[in-house]
Amino acid sequence: MKVKLNINGKDYESEIEPRMLLVDFIRDVAGLKGTHVGCETGSCGACMVLLDGMPAKSCLMLAAQAQGKKIVTIEGLSAGGKLNSVQRSLSERKALQCGFCAAGFSIMGTWILENEREIDYEKVKTDLAGVVCRCSGYERVIDSIVEAAKNERKN
Ligand code: FES
Ligand code: FES
Repeated sequence: MKVKLNINGKDYESEIEPRMLLVDFIRDVAGLKGTHVGCETGSCGACMVLLDGMPAKSCLMLAAQAQGKKIVTIEGLSAGGKLNSVQRSLSERKALQCGFCAAGFSIMGTWILENEREIDYEKVKTDLAGVVCRCSGYERVIDSIVEAAKNERKN
């Protein structure tokens, strides 16, 4: 079947198998490799994207189901090659090691900054429950997002 998906503001049109997952379209058709495939069962969050502004695990839906929606991947967070405040904070605090989970934390952190009214350690910890990191601890990740929120709301 032919599908057209809008990813990071750009349309990608392709003939695909109807069963193709959204994560595979993002990686293999659009060539955006920052979205990772970990579990393919919705447990790890490595495949997290924003779908019409809401976090979504792209291994849990078909590419065809995302037609007509605005998809944002980790690449779309850094317009013009400039990291957004969450990505910058994660980087400055050296919160990540291998980076396999970076899409999950960056997408969720960005969503938190844009949508949560009160942002503190416990709130961020709860919101990040769907993202798993296999190497670093979660403390620096949570602190990075709290810090990014503080900085952003100061300005
Ligand atoms: S690959 Fe999608 S949640 Fe793990
Ligand atoms: S830094 Fe390696 S999985 Fe998170």
